Amino acid sequence: MGLHLLASHPKILSQLHNEVDAVLDGRPATWNDIPQLELTRRILTETTRIHSPALLTTRRTTAETELGGIHIPAQTDLFLSPYILHLRSDAFPDPRTFDPDRWLPDRPAPPRGSCVPFGGGTPRCIGDDFALTEAILALSTLTARFELRLDPSTTTSTLVRGAVGRIPSACSSALVAMRRDSMIRAKAGSQSSQDLSSVPLNA
Ligand code: HEM
Repeated sequence: MGLHLLASHPKILSQLHNEVDAVLDGRPATWNDIPQLELTRRILTETTRIHSPALLTTRRTTAETELGGIHIPAQTDLFLSPYILHLRSDAFPDPRTFDPDRWLPDRPAPPRGSCVPFGGGTPRCIGDDFALTEAILALSTLTARFELRLDPSTTTSTLVRGAVGRIPSACSSALVAMRRDSMIRAKAGSQSSQDLSSVPLNA
C-alpha cells in the first residue's frame, strides 16, 4: 500500500528519491543508514496511519467497568478499530490526505493513543520495531532502484467488508515499477521510454 501511495504522490516519491540517493548512493540500505532515512520513516508512519494494516483489535473486560460514561459488564468483548481511529479529523487535520510531513518533529504531536497501528497498552505488537526497521530497509532499497507509476489503463479495487462497514481501498490503478538506471539511460537518448524494463507489481 505504501508503494501505491507513493506512485500516486509523485512529488513525495521524488523527495524520497532525493533522500535515498543521498544516503545510499545506489547500494542496499543497512542498519547504519536508518537514522538518516528520516523521510522514509515518516512515509511508513503515515502509510500505517492512513491504511492501518490492523482493522480491528479486541479486548475482553475482566471486571465490571465504565468507558466514556457507558457501563460495561465483566466478560464483555470490546472492538477497537485503528483504521477508523486513524482517520479522525479531530486528531489528524485533513485525515484522508497522505502527508508524511505531519510527522515532522516541529509539528504538533497527535493526541496520545490516536495512532496505534501496532496496538496500544497491554498486550500490543511485540514486532513493531522489527517491522518498521525491515520496512525502512526494504522501501529505501526498492525506491533507490525503481521509479513507481500507476498504469491508468488498468483498474483494481477492493472493498473490505465487516463489522466496521465497507471501506473502499485507495487502489485505483495497477502499480508499475521501472528501473531507474534504465530511465537515466533513456533520458540520455540511448533508449526510448518504450524500452524501459518494467515490473507490474499488482496487475
Ligand atoms: C506492519 C507490521 C505489523 C503490524 C501493523 C502489526 C500490528 C499488530 C497489532 C495491531 C497487534 C495486536 C495488538 C493489540 O491487541 O492491541 C499485534 C500483535 C502482535 N504482533 Fe504484530 N504487527 C506487525 C508486525 C509484527 C511482526 C514483524 C511480528 C513478529 C516478529 C509481530 C508479532 C506480534 C505478536 C507476537 C503479537 C501478539 C502480542 C500479544 O498478544 O501479546 N508483529 N501486531
